[in-house]
Amino acid sequence: MRLDKYICESTDSTRQEAKGLIKAGLITIDGVVCKKAAVHVAPEQQIALDGERIEPVGLRYIMMNKPVDTLCTTSDTELYQSVISLMLIDKPERLHIAGRLDVDSTGLILITDDGLWSHKVTSPRRGCFKTYLVELLNPVSNTEQTKLIQAFADGFYLSGDDKKTLPAEIEFTAPNQARVKICEGRFHQVKRMFLAFDNQVTRLHRQQIGEIVLGTDLAAGEWRYLNAAEINSIDA
Ligand code: URA
Repeated sequence: MRLDKYICESTDSTRQEAKGLIKAGLITIDGVVCKKAAVHVAPEQQIALDGERIEPVGLRYIMMNKPVDTLCTTSDTELYQSVISLMLIDKPERLHIAGRLDVDSTGLILITDDGLWSHKVTSPRRGCFKTYLVELLNPVSNTEQTKLIQAFADGFYLSGDDKKTLPAEIEFTAPNQARVKICEGRFHQVKRMFLAFDNQVTRLHRQQIGEIVLGTDLAAGEWRYLNAAEINSIDA
């Protein structure tokens, strides 16, 4: 990587500012001042700015247990805090959420700066299923449950949409509780799927995305980096 690019990737500097730092003699490579922006830096070399070592941030893959009343956006509003601003992390402006949850929904969100990876998470064509635990306002009778299971599997038109929903799974764990698996992320999709059957979702918690399961070790608002197996599971 070129030295000026390395500085941009490691600090908040623009390319122009990075060139300025280099010209000013503030950058060293392995302890020696370097004034050439086009010099290529090898991974084993140590780069310092004003005597302090700097390193590129690199791509990050994170899971968070989203708390209720937070936004899956990159900045806060007057009413709600963004999930990104809950994190004490370098370069938060580079991060985005791979598959949003509504302000009142809770559970697993994936946060990354790898656009290709997040596309694989969210693109319906990739068939990455998301599992939600749902609580419903109205209990659903056994006959109605059978009807819903079939309808979710077949797909149906949501109000205002011109495409049927893709095959989804629903398993009732109680008359007013279900586990739902969908591989799409249309606007308010799960809520609208139940609304189509005159019911209302009162609680929505995402438990799993593909193979990635929200650990019980993360309290609401807590986050951790994904391990290699979790990251690679999205490509599998
Ligand atoms: N479906 C919804 O309706 N809301 C969510 O937050 C996620 C899926």
